[in-house]
Formats: sequence, C-alpha cells, structure tokens
Amino acid sequence: MLEIGCGNGQSLQYHGERGASELWGVDLSENQIAKARQHLEACGLSAAFINSPMEEECGLPENYFDFVYSIYAIGWTTDLEGTFRRIASYLKRDGVFIFSWSHPIHKCVTTENNMLTFKKSYFDDSWYSVPLDEGTLTLSDRKLSTYVNALAKAGFVIEQMIEESDEEIMQLRDDKSDLAQKAKMLPVTFVMKARKR
Ligand SMILES: C[S@@+](CC[C@H](N)C(=O)[O-])C[C@H]1O[C@@H](n2cnc3c(N)ncnc32)[C@H](O)[C@@H]1O
Repeated sequence: MLEIGCGNGQSLQYHGERGASELWGVDLSENQIAKARQHLEACGLSAAFINSPMEEECGLPENYFDFVYSIYAIGWTTDLEGTFRRIASYLKRDGVFIFSWSHPIHKCVTTENNMLTFKKSYFDDSWYSVPLDEGTLTLSDRKLSTYVNALAKAGFVIEQMIEESDEEIMQLRDDKSDLAQKAKMLPVTFVMKARKR
C-alpha cells in the first residue's frame, strides 16, 4: 500500500503491524519523511519513502499498488484532477483509493451564541495561503462535487462516502469547543472510497 502525504508515518506503522506486505509513503516535507523513516525503523518495519509533491512525477511504479490512501493530505494538492490521475496510474486495475479531508461545509460555518452561522459561501473555492512546516501552502476549499467529478474523470468508481463526526471530537472542550459544537450538527470530515475501473 501507498500513503500520499504520509506525514510522520503513524498510519504506515498501523498497516505494517497488520500485515501489509509493502509500505510506501510520499510526502512533500523532507522533515516529515525523515521522521517517518526514523519511526518505522524504530518499530522494526521497512518502508520506501519518496520526498515529492503529490502533484508531480516522482518515480512511483505504475499499475503496482492494491491500495492507495491519504489521511488529511489530498486537499493540499494544487492540481486535484492531475493528482487523482496519477493515483489511478499507481493502482492496479480494481485497486482501491481511500482518502479523508476536511468537510467543505465545516469551513463555511462558525458557532455564535449556540447557533451555527455561515461565515463564507459554500461555493467560494478561491485560493488562500496557510503556513505549513517548511513554507507557505496555497489551499482552496473545494466543493464535494469537485472531488466526486475529479474521481470520475480519473477513472474511479465511488463505492462509499462517509460523513460522520466521532465521539472524541464531540467531547472536545475549551478552545476546541467550537469544533465540538459544530461536529454535533454537521460532518467535519468526509471519507471516500473509490475503485479504479
Ligand atoms: C495533516 S498532515 C497528515 C499526515 C498523515 N497522513 C497523518 O494522518 O498523520 C498532511 C501531510 O501532507 C503533506 N503534504 C502537504 N501538501 C502536500 C503535497 N502537495 N504533496 C505531498 N504531500 C503533501 C504534509 O507535508 C503533511 O505531512
């Protein structure tokens, strides 16, 4: 299996400990790749790491993986359709792609006096900058339909979509209570499972 935006390698460790036969990770950040390498080694697991943006050709084998997954990283791509096309190329036919990202509705809403208020339009997918690790990244709050249509264009069939809030988030207190309150009324995350045709 391959993780896109593998960060410090925690989920690769999870899969390695559950018998995944090969672990591969890609990340834009040299720092995260170094941490992931160290972490997997410390856990007695081996993995192949590639330090590259997911948008670019980076030497990953094609028609090779049974699973490609990404936890809170896909939304960082500056080229969604191109990234999904690349991911499709790494997968074997019938291979599975699973990713999670922030639910776009969550970005539009804020809590005020125990009520949810729209602070921005769901249709606003203009680009803005955020600081991350070794620099600044540009981000756009894409609509759900943008993800669905980009998956279809890249040759995926969507098998499942999850919109849920977990108990842990709903129990958050103090400075995170805004998130907890929102999570009771709307999904803060979405997860999609798609299969390469
Ligand atoms: C929120 S972290 C998630 C890390 C890991 N998946 C996890 O669940 O712990 C997002 C990761 O995506 C990486 N990232 C951001 N933009 C990227 C890009 N364009 N290509 C590859 N990785 C990227 C970041 O460096 C970071 O490690």
